[in-house]
Amino acid sequence: MSVIIELKNYSWKYLHSQQPALDNINLQIEEGMFVGIIGPNGSGKTTLAYSMNGLIPGQYNGIKNGEVLVYGKEVEQYSHGELQKLAGMVFSDPEAQFTAMTVEDELVFGLENLGMSIPEIRERLEWVVDLTGLEKMLLKPPYELSGGQKQRVALAAVLAMTPKILILDEPTTMLDPVSRRRVFDVLAKLKKEQHNTIIVIEHNLENLIPLADRMILLSNSKLMLEDETGRFFQNMELLMREGINPPGALRFFHELQKAGYAKDALPVNLSEASRQLMQLFG
Ligand SMILES: Nc1ncnc2c1ncn2[C@@H]1O[C@H](COP(=O)(O)OP(=O)(O)OP(=O)(O)O)[C@@H](O)[C@H]1O
Ligand SMILES: [Mg+2]
Repeated sequence: MSVIIELKNYSWKYLHSQQPALDNINLQIEEGMFVGIIGPNGSGKTTLAYSMNGLIPGQYNGIKNGEVLVYGKEVEQYSHGELQKLAGMVFSDPEAQFTAMTVEDELVFGLENLGMSIPEIRERLEWVVDLTGLEKMLLKPPYELSGGQKQRVALAAVLAMTPKILILDEPTTMLDPVSRRRVFDVLAKLKKEQHNTIIVIEHNLENLIPLADRMILLSNSKLMLEDETGRFFQNMELLMREGINPPGALRFFHELQKAGYAKDALPVNLSEASRQLMQLFG
């Protein structure tokens, strides 16, 4: 598979900061991958997301070292807005994203900007409304929605433009468990049907792990760990030291392992966990 995003010896220091927000990051993301990014507050996750869609250095002042390449081209070399079309981003603060007076206009706005015809826009709108379940909210002003509803609209507005790369920065913080599940179902569908490259910053690992092909741990501006999801979670001591709270099943098997029981690799999915349990106690 081809590399779609590549960071080479990349560092970024916000203007007036003493410390770099990202420090010498080397990373490759392949096309069609679903990548989860985790790490404590202030570790550099949002900065990494901004760096991959050109908001950094475009909208922020600071000092950059090294390279960030998207489709082999340095982010600075893309013309204004071109990269944002390729790499759509959903922010954790959806408010920042809204400009229109109704949800429907909000969804249509980006499509008009892409120069789509009215029938195309109508078709795309139907698709995204169906996908995200926003039928009943279309005529409401975005500012009258609840936090969770806003987050769903923000996601839909970006999805409507079907960018090849989707970057989501804590997209479900305000969502109830059902809506959260729904967002991840939407992402699963996109991954399966459209082969988008999806990068998700998310503290809630229960939903992330089943979808993620690869995981990244940032800590204190550095890339601490990057691996295929199953292998990534074998590093339980490191993850817990970094304040990550892996799902109960993983912690349970980690305890069994420490006590000398479980010998296999720690299971990252329920069917593997059940299989190992039955083998141990069956
Ligand atoms: N606009 C800014 N100007 C100066 N420093 C910033 C700015 N934005 C972030 N930082 C600093 O950069 C570092 C990384 O911040 P970043 O927002 O990337 O962390 P994060 O991992 O996304 O944290 P969180 O989990 O809280 O969202 C922090 O030390 C933060 O204080
Ligand atoms: Mg952040």
